Amino acid sequence: MTLSITPTCATSKALIVGLLSGAALTVLLTGLFTKVSNKKHKDQENQVNVEEHVETEIVDGVAGLIGNTPLMKIKSLSDATGCLVLGKAEFLNPGGSSKDRVALNMIQTAEEQGILKPHTGSTVFEGTVGSTGISIAMIARAKGYKAWIVMPDDQAVEKYQLLEKLGATVEKVRPVSIVDKKQFVNLARERAANFSHGEAYGYFADQFENEANFQAHYTLTGPEVYRQTGGKIDALVLGAGTGGTLSGITCYLKERVNNLKVFLADPQGSGLFNKVKYNVMYSPTEQEGNRRRHQVDTVVEGIGINRLTQNFEKGRRYIDDAFRVTDEEAIKMSRYLVREDGLFVGSSSAVNCVAAYRTAKQLGPGHVIVTLLNDSGQRHLTKFWSDEYLKAQDIYFELKPEETVHDFVK
Ligand SMILES: Cc1ncc(COP(=O)(O)O)c(C=O)c1O
Ligand SMILES: *[C@@H]1O[C@H](CO)[C@@H](O)[C@H](O)[C@H]1NC(C)=O
Ligand SMILES: *[C@@H]1O[C@H](CO)[C@@H](O)[C@H](O)[C@H]1NC(C)=O
Repeated sequence: MTLSITPTCATSKALIVGLLSGAALTVLLTGLFTKVSNKKHKDQENQVNVEEHVETEIVDGVAGLIGNTPLMKIKSLSDATGCLVLGKAEFLNPGGSSKDRVALNMIQTAEEQGILKPHTGSTVFEGTVGSTGISIAMIARAKGYKAWIVMPDDQAVEKYQLLEKLGATVEKVRPVSIVDKKQFVNLARERAANFSHGEAYGYFADQFENEANFQAHYTLTGPEVYRQTGGKIDALVLGAGTGGTLSGITCYLKERVNNLKVFLADPQGSGLFNKVKYNVMYSPTEQEGNRRRHQVDTVVEGIGINRLTQNFEKGRRYIDDAFRVTDEEAIKMSRYLVREDGLFVGSSSAVNCVAAYRTAKQLGPGHVIVTLLNDSGQRHLTKFWSDEYLKAQDIYFELKPEETVHDFVK
């Protein structure tokens, strides 16, 4: 099939019309057009001239599947608030989350800087609780590198298995404080530093401090959101882990959208909420430096942190306000989105949706609100999505059949 509509014309107008009329098909097709047009990864081995196939639906390998995710109307939250509440479907990336963009850009940037050369035995090291490791392992395979992932030993067993299936070396360590040399991020850095031999280089990816993380979202995710909304966006609502997503999208949009409001969505136990509201890094449960590791005291994974990273600092001045989201709200939101929309997402996406609802209530009807849906509930089956696990932790909250979002979000 040859697509004859030029993507730039199709994108903004068709998407807005489609979203406003609730025509999901338009959204899907628009995503398809933009994906088809995105032929930036040329075939370098060159037996095939990829350019000749630009009008077809071919993407170039796993990297070609990353990004250009659809922006989806969340019907339940839109109907409940009179706003257009949109979620960027990052769970559709091939590695299952927005971290694919970050991993790809960190590795590509290291290649451009001459640090990494494929098929030399060079190895990408990262200390991560999982998701970024999964994206790094996938892209390392595709690009001719090895991956070595250092993780705390208390993560869900599927994560280690998945990393091993992707051919990564997985090193599990006891969870200890960030000031400890054996802390997983510190150990990954040291392993990388000690690794290099001959041509084989040890590259520490360092997503918390690596500017390529910010750049991935500044140069791709931000422009996608801008194009997909036609620039008509009133509020952006996001959680922060490394802060790369929040800062990257925010910096891009604030330079272009007048009166855009940016809200941080922060899980309980994270210090960022107080940093944004009162300029003090303090959480009720833990003070800076006292934590066992960068995970905060919540069932939510991937967002919330008790230290300031370079990637968060880049966008901090643009954040207008913050919402703190409890585990109860996040758990009930995740069950509500399945009940109402058939949308099965992970914990950080649920936090974002709680904050997006609060933003809609605060701004009033008629506004366009964008948030991020990072990953699917499938990655959280044994923790956030396991009623047995939640009961054992004493944080089980049932969404009653008669309960609506107005009841469970405070
Ligand atoms: C739902 C959601 N919000 C925000 C983020 C931001 O993450 P980071 O701050 O590490 O870019 C993520 C990351 O994967 C996410 O899943
Ligand atoms: C994003 O998704 C990945 C993959 O499932 C997950 O491991 C990670 O914790 C998520 N990050 C955030 C911020 O939600
Ligand atoms: C790295 O090398 C230094 C110096 O040789 C050594 O003391 C240290 O134990 C090594 N660290 C690791 C994690 O292998």
